[in-house]
Amino acid sequence: MSQKVLYLKSKQGAFEVATAPVPKPGSGEVLIKVQATALNPVDWKIQVLGLFIEEFPAILGGDAAGIVEEVGEGVTNLKKGDRVLTNGIYGVNEHATFQQYTLGNADVTGKIPDSLSLDEAATIPLGLATAAVGLFHYGVESNSAGLFPPWEDGGSGKYAGEPIFVAGGASSVGQYVIQLAKLAGFGPIVTTASLRNTESLKKQGATHVLDRNLPADSLIGEVQKITSAPFKVAYDAVSLPETQNVSYRILAPGGTLVLVLAEEVENKTEDKRVVNTYGNTNVPVNRKLGASLYSKVTSLLETGAIKPNSVEVLPNGLHGIIDGLEKLKQGVSKVKLVGHPQETA
Ligand SMILES: NC(=O)c1ccc[n+]([C@@H]2O[C@H](COP(=O)([O-])OP(=O)(O)OC[C@H]3O[C@@H](n4cnc5c(N)ncnc54)[C@H](OP(=O)(O)O)[C@@H]3O)[C@@H](O)[C@H]2O)c1
Repeated sequence: MSQKVLYLKSKQGAFEVATAPVPKPGSGEVLIKVQATALNPVDWKIQVLGLFIEEFPAILGGDAAGIVEEVGEGVTNLKKGDRVLTNGIYGVNEHATFQQYTLGNADVTGKIPDSLSLDEAATIPLGLATAAVGLFHYGVESNSAGLFPPWEDGGSGKYAGEPIFVAGGASSVGQYVIQLAKLAGFGPIVTTASLRNTESLKKQGATHVLDRNLPADSLIGEVQKITSAPFKVAYDAVSLPETQNVSYRILAPGGTLVLVLAEEVENKTEDKRVVNTYGNTNVPVNRKLGASLYSKVTSLLETGAIKPNSVEVLPNGLHGIIDGLEKLKQGVSKVKLVGHPQETA
Protein backbone atom coordinates (compact mmCIF):
# COMPACT_ATOMS: atom_id res chain seq x y z
CA MET A 1 0.00 0.00 0.00
CA SER A 2 1.32 3.45 -0.88
CA GLN A 3 0.68 6.95 0.45
CA LYS A 4 1.53 10.60 -0.16
CA VAL A 5 4.40 12.06 1.86
CA LEU A 6 6.13 15.45 1.97
CA TYR A 7 9.85 14.94 1.38
CA LEU A 8 12.66 17.34 2.12
CA LYS A 9 14.76 16.07 -0.76
CA SER A 10 18.24 17.05 0.43
CA LYS A 11 19.98 19.12 3.13
CA GLN A 12 18.67 22.68 2.71
CA GLY A 13 16.95 21.47 -0.47
CA ALA A 14 13.38 21.70 -1.73
CA PHE A 15 10.21 20.11 -0.38
CA GLU A 16 8.30 17.81 -2.73
CA VAL A 17 5.14 15.73 -2.41
CA ALA A 18 5.93 12.14 -3.40
CA THR A 19 4.65 8.58 -3.08
CA ALA A 20 6.12 6.17 -0.51
CA PRO A 21 5.12 2.87 1.10
CA VAL A 22 2.81 2.91 4.14
CA PRO A 23 4.93 1.70 7.09
CA LYS A 24 4.09 -1.49 9.03
CA PRO A 25 3.69 -1.19 12.81
CA GLY A 26 6.27 -3.23 14.70
CA SER A 27 6.00 -4.54 18.24
CA GLY A 28 4.63 -1.85 20.57
CA GLU A 29 3.70 0.45 17.68
CA VAL A 30 0.47 1.59 16.02
CA LEU A 31 -0.14 2.72 12.46
CA ILE A 32 -1.99 6.06 12.45
CA LYS A 33 -3.89 7.59 9.53
CA VAL A 34 -2.81 11.21 9.97
CA GLN A 35 -5.79 13.55 9.74
CA ALA A 36 -4.04 16.60 11.20
CA THR A 37 -0.40 17.53 11.66
CA ALA A 38 0.87 20.73 13.27
CA LEU A 39 3.83 22.75 12.04
CA ASN A 40 6.66 23.67 14.41
CA PRO A 41 9.53 26.17 14.04
CA VAL A 42 12.02 23.28 13.93
CA ASP A 43 10.46 22.17 10.62
CA TRP A 44 11.47 25.32 8.77
CA LYS A 45 14.76 25.56 10.70
CA ILE A 46 15.79 22.07 9.54
CA GLN A 47 15.17 23.08 5.92
CA VAL A 48 16.70 26.56 6.02
CA LEU A 49 19.63 25.91 8.36
CA GLY A 50 20.38 22.26 7.59
CA LEU A 51 20.05 21.19 11.24
CA PHE A 52 19.70 17.74 12.86
CA ILE A 53 18.98 15.48 9.85
CA GLU A 54 21.62 13.77 7.73
CA GLU A 55 19.64 11.21 5.71
CA PHE A 56 17.52 12.28 2.75
CA PRO A 57 14.90 12.31 1.43
CA ALA A 58 13.58 13.11 4.91
CA ILE A 59 10.05 13.46 6.20
CA LEU A 60 9.61 16.16 8.85
CA GLY A 61 6.75 16.85 11.27
CA GLY A 62 6.56 16.31 15.02
CA ASP A 63 2.81 16.42 15.76
CA ALA A 64 0.12 14.02 14.60
CA ALA A 65 -3.56 13.43 15.33
CA GLY A 66 -5.47 10.73 13.52
CA ILE A 67 -7.10 7.33 13.58
CA VAL A 68 -5.44 4.03 14.52
CA GLU A 69 -5.45 1.82 11.41
CA GLU A 70 -3.51 -1.16 12.72
CA VAL A 71 -1.93 -2.20 16.02
CA GLY A 72 1.42 -3.96 16.32
CA GLU A 73 2.21 -6.94 18.49
CA GLY A 74 1.77 -6.46 22.22
CA VAL A 75 -0.25 -3.24 22.06
CA THR A 76 -3.08 -3.35 24.59
CA ASN A 77 -3.87 0.31 25.34
CA LEU A 78 -5.07 1.21 21.82
CA LYS A 79 -7.23 -0.41 19.14
CA LYS A 80 -8.15 0.11 15.48
CA GLY A 81 -10.45 3.12 15.11
CA ASP A 82 -9.21 5.04 18.18
CA ARG A 83 -8.68 8.79 17.73
CA VAL A 84 -5.13 9.42 18.93
CA LEU A 85 -2.34 11.99 19.21
CA THR A 86 1.39 11.33 19.13
CA ASN A 87 4.76 13.04 18.93
CA GLY A 88 6.66 12.41 15.68
CA ILE A 89 10.35 11.55 15.58
CA TYR A 90 12.78 13.64 13.51
CA GLY A 91 15.27 11.53 11.60
CA VAL A 92 13.02 8.45 11.45
CA ASN A 93 10.80 8.80 8.37
CA GLU A 94 8.25 6.16 9.43
CA HIS A 95 7.61 8.10 12.66
CA ALA A 96 7.48 11.61 11.14
CA THR A 97 4.11 13.29 10.63
CA PHE A 98 4.11 15.17 7.27
CA GLN A 99 2.66 12.10 5.57
CA GLN A 100 -0.69 10.30 5.32
CA TYR A 101 0.28 7.42 7.63
CA THR A 102 2.75 7.45 10.52
CA LEU A 103 3.85 5.08 13.25
CA GLY A 104 3.36 5.91 16.92
CA ASN A 105 4.93 4.20 19.92
CA ALA A 106 1.84 3.03 21.78
CA ASP A 107 3.12 3.94 25.27
CA VAL A 108 3.49 7.57 24.19
CA THR A 109 0.37 7.76 22.04
CA GLY A 110 -2.86 8.87 23.72
CA LYS A 111 -6.57 8.74 23.03
CA ILE A 112 -8.23 12.05 22.18
CA PRO A 113 -11.41 12.80 24.15
CA ASP A 114 -14.58 13.57 22.16
CA SER A 115 -14.46 17.18 23.34
CA LEU A 116 -11.38 17.88 21.18
CA SER A 117 -11.18 18.04 17.39
CA LEU A 118 -8.33 16.26 15.62
CA ASP A 119 -7.02 19.68 14.54
CA GLU A 120 -6.87 20.83 18.16
CA ALA A 121 -5.25 17.58 19.27
CA ALA A 122 -2.50 18.00 16.67
CA THR A 123 -1.34 21.17 18.44
CA ILE A 124 -0.46 19.29 21.62
CA PRO A 125 2.24 16.60 21.49
CA LEU A 126 5.47 18.50 20.75
CA GLY A 127 4.62 21.67 22.68
CA LEU A 128 3.33 19.80 25.71
CA ALA A 129 6.38 17.51 25.70
CA THR A 130 8.74 20.49 25.58
CA ALA A 131 7.00 22.11 28.53
CA ALA A 132 6.68 18.87 30.52
CA VAL A 133 10.28 17.73 30.07
CA GLY A 134 11.71 21.18 30.80
CA LEU A 135 9.84 21.54 34.07
CA PHE A 136 8.92 18.10 35.37
CA HIS A 137 11.56 15.56 34.43
CA TYR A 138 11.65 14.48 38.04
CA GLY A 139 15.01 13.09 39.10
CA VAL A 140 16.56 13.82 35.68
CA GLU A 141 18.10 17.25 35.91
CA SER A 142 20.16 17.10 32.68
CA ASN A 143 17.37 18.65 30.59
CA SER A 144 14.93 19.88 33.21
CA ALA A 145 14.21 21.88 36.33
CA GLY A 146 13.56 18.38 37.73
CA LEU A 147 10.27 19.24 39.47
CA PHE A 148 7.63 16.69 40.46
CA PRO A 149 4.96 16.28 37.72
CA PRO A 150 1.51 17.69 38.52
CA TRP A 151 -0.25 14.85 36.66
CA GLU A 152 1.18 12.22 39.03
CA ASP A 153 -0.30 11.41 42.44
CA GLY A 154 0.70 14.08 44.93
CA GLY A 155 1.84 16.51 42.23
CA SER A 156 -1.21 18.71 41.85
CA GLY A 157 -0.67 22.02 43.67
CA LYS A 158 2.72 20.91 45.04
CA TYR A 159 4.41 24.23 44.28
CA ALA A 160 1.68 26.46 45.71
CA GLY A 161 2.93 29.91 46.62
CA GLU A 162 6.09 29.69 44.50
CA PRO A 163 6.45 32.18 41.65
CA ILE A 164 7.46 31.20 38.12
CA PHE A 165 8.56 33.41 35.21
CA VAL A 166 7.66 32.35 31.66
CA ALA A 167 9.18 34.34 28.80
CA GLY A 168 6.99 34.10 25.67
CA GLY A 169 3.73 32.84 27.17
CA ALA A 170 1.85 33.16 23.86
CA SER A 171 4.13 30.73 22.05
CA SER A 172 2.87 27.20 21.63
CA VAL A 173 5.38 25.91 24.19
CA GLY A 174 4.76 28.87 26.52
CA GLN A 175 1.02 28.17 26.68
CA TYR A 176 1.67 24.58 27.81
CA VAL A 177 4.24 25.80 30.35
CA ILE A 178 1.67 28.18 31.83
CA GLN A 179 -1.01 25.48 32.01
CA LEU A 180 1.30 22.89 33.61
CA ALA A 181 2.63 25.51 36.05
CA LYS A 182 -0.95 26.27 37.06
CA LEU A 183 -1.66 22.58 37.66
CA ALA A 184 1.48 22.37 39.79
CA GLY A 185 0.17 25.24 41.92
CA PHE A 186 2.73 27.92 40.98
CA GLY A 187 1.71 31.46 41.75
CA PRO A 188 2.16 34.16 40.69
CA ILE A 189 2.68 32.95 37.09
CA VAL A 190 4.33 35.91 35.40
CA THR A 191 4.72 35.92 31.62
CA THR A 192 5.63 38.18 28.71
CA ALA A 193 3.60 38.53 25.52
CA SER A 194 2.10 41.04 23.14
CA LEU A 195 -0.54 42.67 25.30
CA ARG A 196 -3.37 41.72 22.90
CA ASN A 197 -2.87 38.17 24.23
CA THR A 198 -3.34 39.16 27.89
CA GLU A 199 -6.90 37.93 28.45
CA SER A 200 -6.44 34.58 26.74
CA LEU A 201 -3.20 33.90 28.63
CA LYS A 202 -4.93 34.75 31.91
CA LYS A 203 -7.61 32.18 31.07
CA GLN A 204 -4.84 29.58 30.72
CA GLY A 205 -3.39 30.43 34.13
CA ALA A 206 -1.05 33.40 33.81
CA THR A 207 -1.61 35.78 36.72
CA HIS A 208 0.42 38.67 35.25
CA VAL A 209 1.10 39.39 31.57
CA LEU A 210 3.84 41.94 30.93
CA ASP A 211 4.52 43.65 27.61
CA ARG A 212 7.20 41.71 25.80
CA ASN A 213 8.50 44.95 24.27
CA LEU A 214 9.49 46.52 27.61
CA PRO A 215 13.22 47.26 27.93
CA ALA A 216 15.01 44.71 30.14
CA ASP A 217 15.38 46.96 33.21
CA SER A 218 11.72 48.07 33.10
CA LEU A 219 10.55 44.48 32.72
CA ILE A 220 12.62 43.33 35.68
CA GLY A 221 11.30 46.29 37.71
CA GLU A 222 7.70 45.28 36.90
CA VAL A 223 8.39 41.69 37.96
CA GLN A 224 9.86 42.89 41.27
CA LYS A 225 6.69 44.91 41.93
CA ILE A 226 4.58 41.73 41.61
CA THR A 227 6.31 39.68 44.32
CA SER A 228 9.35 39.72 46.56
CA ALA A 229 9.38 35.90 46.68
CA PRO A 230 12.37 34.34 44.89
CA PHE A 231 11.83 32.96 41.38
CA LYS A 232 13.36 29.50 41.65
CA VAL A 233 12.12 28.57 38.18
CA ALA A 234 12.17 30.53 34.94
CA TYR A 235 11.18 29.02 31.58
CA ASP A 236 12.24 30.90 28.45
CA ALA A 237 9.98 29.61 25.67
CA VAL A 238 11.53 32.08 23.21
CA SER A 239 15.23 31.78 24.14
CA LEU A 240 16.53 34.67 22.06
CA PRO A 241 19.65 36.26 23.59
CA GLU A 242 17.64 39.14 25.13
CA THR A 243 14.92 36.90 26.63
CA GLN A 244 17.55 34.52 28.02
CA ASN A 245 19.38 37.36 29.75
CA VAL A 246 16.22 38.90 31.23
CA SER A 247 15.02 35.49 32.43
CA TYR A 248 18.40 34.76 33.98
CA ARG A 249 18.40 38.10 35.82
CA ILE A 250 14.89 37.42 37.18
CA LEU A 251 15.93 33.93 38.38
CA ALA A 252 16.88 33.74 42.07
CA PRO A 253 20.11 32.13 43.32
CA GLY A 254 19.64 28.36 43.58
CA GLY A 255 17.11 28.44 40.75
CA THR A 256 16.92 26.86 37.28
CA LEU A 257 16.41 28.56 33.93
CA VAL A 258 14.96 26.27 31.25
CA LEU A 259 15.81 27.13 27.63
CA VAL A 260 14.39 25.84 24.34
CA LEU A 261 17.35 26.95 22.19
CA ALA A 262 21.14 26.99 22.65
CA GLU A 263 22.33 28.92 25.68
CA GLU A 264 23.54 32.49 25.16
CA VAL A 265 23.40 33.84 28.73
CA GLU A 266 25.95 36.53 29.61
CA ASN A 267 27.51 37.11 33.03
CA LYS A 268 26.62 33.70 34.43
CA THR A 269 27.21 32.89 38.07
CA GLU A 270 27.79 29.58 39.86
CA ASP A 271 24.57 29.75 41.84
CA LYS A 272 22.07 29.57 38.94
CA ARG A 273 21.52 26.50 36.78
CA VAL A 274 20.70 26.71 33.06
CA VAL A 275 19.33 23.66 31.21
CA ASN A 276 18.12 22.90 27.69
CA THR A 277 14.89 20.99 27.30
CA TYR A 278 14.27 18.49 24.51
CA GLY A 279 10.62 18.11 23.64
CA ASN A 280 10.23 14.58 22.44
CA THR A 281 8.50 11.89 24.45
CA ASN A 282 9.92 9.04 22.31
CA VAL A 283 13.65 9.39 22.94
CA PRO A 284 15.15 7.06 25.55
CA VAL A 285 16.07 9.83 28.01
CA ASN A 286 12.48 11.15 28.06
CA ARG A 287 10.54 7.91 27.53
CA LYS A 288 9.60 7.13 31.13
CA LEU A 289 8.33 10.66 31.71
CA GLY A 290 6.60 10.54 28.33
CA ALA A 291 4.76 7.33 29.18
CA SER A 292 3.73 8.81 32.54
CA LEU A 293 2.38 11.92 30.79
CA TYR A 294 0.59 9.92 28.10
CA SER A 295 -1.02 7.67 30.69
CA LYS A 296 -2.84 10.82 31.88
CA VAL A 297 -3.10 12.91 28.72
CA THR A 298 -6.67 11.86 27.87
CA SER A 299 -8.01 12.90 31.27
CA LEU A 300 -5.95 16.13 31.31
CA LEU A 301 -7.62 17.05 28.01
CA GLU A 302 -11.07 15.78 28.95
CA THR A 303 -11.20 17.84 32.14
CA GLY A 304 -9.83 20.91 30.37
CA ALA A 305 -6.79 21.03 32.67
CA ILE A 306 -4.77 21.22 29.45
CA LYS A 307 -6.29 23.10 26.55
CA PRO A 308 -4.97 22.98 22.98
CA ASN A 309 -3.50 25.93 21.10
CA SER A 310 -5.73 27.90 18.73
CA VAL A 311 -5.72 26.41 15.24
CA GLU A 312 -5.36 27.80 11.74
CA VAL A 313 -5.95 25.08 9.15
CA LEU A 314 -3.83 25.20 5.99
CA PRO A 315 -5.40 24.42 2.59
CA ASN A 316 -4.11 21.91 -0.03
CA GLY A 317 -3.02 18.97 2.11
CA LEU A 318 0.72 18.25 2.19
CA HIS A 319 1.37 20.89 -0.52
CA GLY A 320 -0.06 23.54 1.83
CA ILE A 321 2.51 22.72 4.48
CA ILE A 322 5.26 24.18 2.27
CA ASP A 323 3.62 27.64 2.30
CA GLY A 324 2.70 27.15 5.95
CA LEU A 325 6.35 26.74 6.90
CA GLU A 326 7.16 30.01 5.14
CA LYS A 327 4.37 31.69 7.10
CA LEU A 328 5.63 30.22 10.37
CA LYS A 329 9.13 31.49 9.58
CA GLN A 330 7.72 35.03 9.20
CA GLY A 331 6.16 34.61 12.67
CA VAL A 332 2.69 33.76 13.97
CA SER A 333 0.94 35.05 17.09
CA LYS A 334 -0.70 32.59 19.49
CA VAL A 335 -1.82 30.20 16.78
CA LYS A 336 -0.67 26.80 15.54
CA LEU A 337 -0.72 26.05 11.82
CA VAL A 338 -2.24 22.64 11.04
CA GLY A 339 -2.16 20.68 7.76
CA HIS A 340 -4.46 17.87 6.54
CA PRO A 341 -2.35 15.20 4.79
CA GLN A 342 -5.45 13.28 3.60
CA GLU A 343 -6.50 16.30 1.50
CA THR A 344 -3.43 16.06 -0.75
CA ALA A 345 -4.35 16.21 -4.47
N1 LIG B 1 14.20 22.39 22.55
C1 LIG B 1 13.11 21.85 22.05
O1 LIG B 1 12.88 20.65 22.14
C2 LIG B 1 12.08 22.72 21.41
C3 LIG B 1 10.78 22.24 21.24
C4 LIG B 1 9.81 23.09 20.73
C5 LIG B 1 10.14 24.37 20.33
N2 LIG B 1 11.42 24.79 20.45
C6 LIG B 1 11.77 26.16 20.09
O2 LIG B 1 11.02 26.99 20.96
C7 LIG B 1 10.68 28.20 20.33
C8 LIG B 1 9.18 28.40 20.47
O3 LIG B 1 8.50 27.42 19.70
P1 LIG B 1 6.91 27.53 19.54
O4 LIG B 1 6.45 26.49 18.62
O5 LIG B 1 6.33 27.62 20.89
O6 LIG B 1 6.85 28.95 18.79
P2 LIG B 1 5.63 29.81 18.25
O7 LIG B 1 4.34 29.36 18.82
O8 LIG B 1 5.74 29.87 16.77
O9 LIG B 1 6.03 31.23 18.84
C9 LIG B 1 5.33 32.37 18.42
C10 LIG B 1 5.12 33.25 19.63
O10 LIG B 1 6.37 33.70 20.13
C11 LIG B 1 6.12 34.87 20.87
N3 LIG B 1 7.35 35.67 20.92
C12 LIG B 1 8.22 35.91 19.91
N4 LIG B 1 9.22 36.71 20.33
C13 LIG B 1 8.98 37.00 21.63
C14 LIG B 1 9.65 37.78 22.62
N5 LIG B 1 10.77 38.44 22.34
N6 LIG B 1 9.12 37.82 23.85
C15 LIG B 1 7.98 37.15 24.16
N7 LIG B 1 7.29 36.41 23.26
C16 LIG B 1 7.79 36.33 22.01
C17 LIG B 1 5.00 35.57 20.14
O11 LIG B 1 4.19 36.12 21.16
P3 LIG B 1 3.13 37.31 20.92
O12 LIG B 1 2.14 36.76 19.94
O13 LIG B 1 2.54 37.51 22.27
O14 LIG B 1 3.88 38.48 20.40
C18 LIG B 1 4.30 34.47 19.35
O15 LIG B 1 2.98 34.23 19.76
C19 LIG B 1 11.18 28.08 18.87
O16 LIG B 1 12.44 28.71 18.76
C20 LIG B 1 11.34 26.58 18.70
O17 LIG B 1 12.29 26.24 17.70
C21 LIG B 1 12.39 24.00 21.00
